[in-house]
This record gives sequence, C-alpha cells and structure tokens, in this order.
Amino acid sequence: MMQRRSNSETLESGIGLMSLKMFSIMPMTFWMKSRLKLCVARWKERILEAAAQIRYWSLVLFPFMNLTKVWNPVILDILDRLELIVNEKDVLDLKEGVKDRPQGRLPTTSLVEESSVYGRDEEKEAIIKLLLADGVTGNKIDVLPIVGMGGLGKTTLAQLVYNDDRVKQHFVHQSWSCVSVEFEVIKITETLYGAVTSQTCNNNITDLNTLQVKLKETLSGKKFLFVLDDVWTVTNDEWDLLSRPFESGGHGSKIIVTTRHEDVAGIIGTLQSQHLMQLSEENCWSLFSKHAFKNAGVTADLSLELIGKQIGQKCKGLPLAAKSLGGLLRSEPNIEKWEEVLNNDIWELLDKKNGILPALWLS
Ligand SMILES: Nc1ncnc2c1ncn2[C@@H]1O[C@H](COP(=O)(O)OP(=O)(O)O)[C@@H](O)[C@H]1O
Ligand SMILES: [Mg+2]
Repeated sequence: MMQRRSNSETLESGIGLMSLKMFSIMPMTFWMKSRLKLCVARWKERILEAAAQIRYWSLVLFPFMNLTKVWNPVILDILDRLELIVNEKDVLDLKEGVKDRPQGRLPTTSLVEESSVYGRDEEKEAIIKLLLADGVTGNKIDVLPIVGMGGLGKTTLAQLVYNDDRVKQHFVHQSWSCVSVEFEVIKITETLYGAVTSQTCNNNITDLNTLQVKLKETLSGKKFLFVLDDVWTVTNDEWDLLSRPFESGGHGSKIIVTTRHEDVAGIIGTLQSQHLMQLSEENCWSLFSKHAFKNAGVTADLSLELIGKQIGQKCKGLPLAAKSLGGLLRSEPNIEKWEEVLNNDIWELLDKKNGILPALWLS
C-alpha cells in the first residue's frame, strides 16, 4: 500500500541526502549514518511503489501507448543513483540493518527514579485518566501516542505512568518494549511475550507464528498495558502484524507509544496524541542545577549560579539538554568554561525537527 508522505518526511529524506554530500567534509556520526540509510531505504521503496503504479495506470489508461517507455528510463536513473548511494555504504562504514541505537541514546526500560523527575504531574494525571477510562472510543484496545522532540521527556513520562500504583492495579499484564529506529515485529513480540509470561524466548519459541499464538492465549480476556517506546517508523502492515494477538486482550487494554514523529502517531494512534511540552523554566533550572551542583539550586558560588541560570534558560525546557549540560559543568570551578557553554552559538541551532541539540548528537 502506498503510504502518505508528510512534509516532515520529505524534509527528513532531504536532510539524509544532504548528509551524504557532506560526509566527505565532516565526520558522520553513527546516528547520521543510520538516518541516512533509513532515508535511502524509504526513498527506494517509494520509488519502486510509484514505478509499479505508473506502469499499472499506463496500461489501464493508455493501453496502446507504451508510456512506460517514457517513464522507465527516469525511474531507472533514480534507482541507479539510489543504488550508488547504497553502495557507498562501505565508504560510510554502514552495516546491513540498523541494529544499534542512535549514538548516545541507551535502550530504555520501564524503571525510573521518580524522585529525580521534575514537573510532569499534570501530564501524568492526564494520561492516567485516559488509561483508566474504558470504552471512551468504543475500541476494545486503544493506542495512546505521546509525541514530542527527542530529549523532551516522553520516555520519562511513560515510565512515571507505567509505575503508578493505580495503573498497576488496573491492568493484569504490563510490558515495556524499547523499539527505536527499526520496527522489528519479532523482537517486539518476543519482548512483550517474555514480560507477560515472565519467560525469556530464547529456548523453544523462535518463529513469529508460535509466539503470536502463545501471546494471544496469554492475553485472552486480560486487560493489558504495553509501552512501545521511541517508535521511529512503522507501516500499516507492520502494525497489523504486530497487533494481531492483542485483539484477544480484555476490553480497555491500552498501548502507549512514544514517538518523535506525528505520522507514526497518525498510523497507529486511536486516542488523541499527547503533545509533550517543554519543562517550565523553574523545573528546567532545578534539573540543570541538580546535575551541575550536586544539590538542586544550591551552590556556594553565586557567580556560577548566575551563569547557570542563564544556561538553564537556554535549555528551553529540554530536559536532555539541562541534564547533559549540568553534567558537563559538574565540578567545573572555572567560570570561563561556564561562559563558554553559555555563549556557544550552537544553541541557536537547536534543531526542533530531529529533536536533539546538534551538540549532543555529535557528542
Ligand atoms: N521531567 C524530568 N525531570 C528530570 N529529568 C528528566 C525529565 N524528563 C526527562 N528527563 C531526563 O532527560 C533525558 C531525556 O528524557 P527522555 O524521557 O529519554 O526523553 P525522550 O524520550 O523524549 O527522548 C533523560 O535522561 C531523562 O532522565
Ligand atoms: Mg525516549
């Protein structure tokens, strides 16, 4: 099926191809490489789909004119160029399949240290209310997307909700799967099944069919909560396949999906997306100072505190930035280093689309 392309995807693909041009003049981080490969794969897939459609409609509409002769060279040329890009993978040191995560981001789990989380009370309550409500949409199972740029705190919010006592009491089964760049149906199913049965899947069950049948049996009539964390991309077909065993679950089961991409939410969400906002200035400062000064908001050095507050403001409510920069300046007595961070132009490049400060994804 032809997937709808949003402007943001076009932009993303464009960024991927631009990255290719730039690779000779700047070192490509793993993150950039994996995005590039993903973009190339998406482009190629779409061109092939488009080519098939053009061929089909040409035959239907102009059976006596062989329009495919006109189009084919164009498409073949594009495919050739894409092929060239894919073949550059050795130069770019790309590996088959995007197995690792973007540099600097570790896999996530459901565990969270709640005492170190600032704010998010309202967002947490709003989501819990939706999770505990049954039958709002008439669907047996609802999917709730949490959407926002990388480093904004989507995973953290999902963790807070997942560990709330009311939520734990409401659902019979809970499972957390860290999805990331590739939507690997088998791997996700294994994780979900492993959690609901408290078993690891490395012994007997290796094929998806057996896994799905077992998962379906286990979920039968039971209310479950699954979290699919950090979904970058998913197609309708992938989602249909993954979610088939879910249908046996109890009425009111929920799936939380955290994602940076609105189109992912559009494909699988059934409840209105929760668009996460930045932290308040106060909470952002608390987070920054906790990491910079050991104790939130407490420092013996007032001049450092003054600059720290300005850096905190420049984090624009992005927890990852506040945490990372606080950590960077921890135990740094030299005020010039603090000023350097404050006056760094890289702040102006805060990249809303791809989510993370360039300084952080290049680190
Ligand atoms: N409200 C918060 N208070 C304290 N730290 C936070 C908060 N939100 C996020 N963080 C921290 O910021 C970093 C990025 O958060 P994360 O939830 O992984 O973002 P996202 O999932 O949107 O990329 C993590 O290290 C997390 O611990
Ligand atoms: Mg996340």
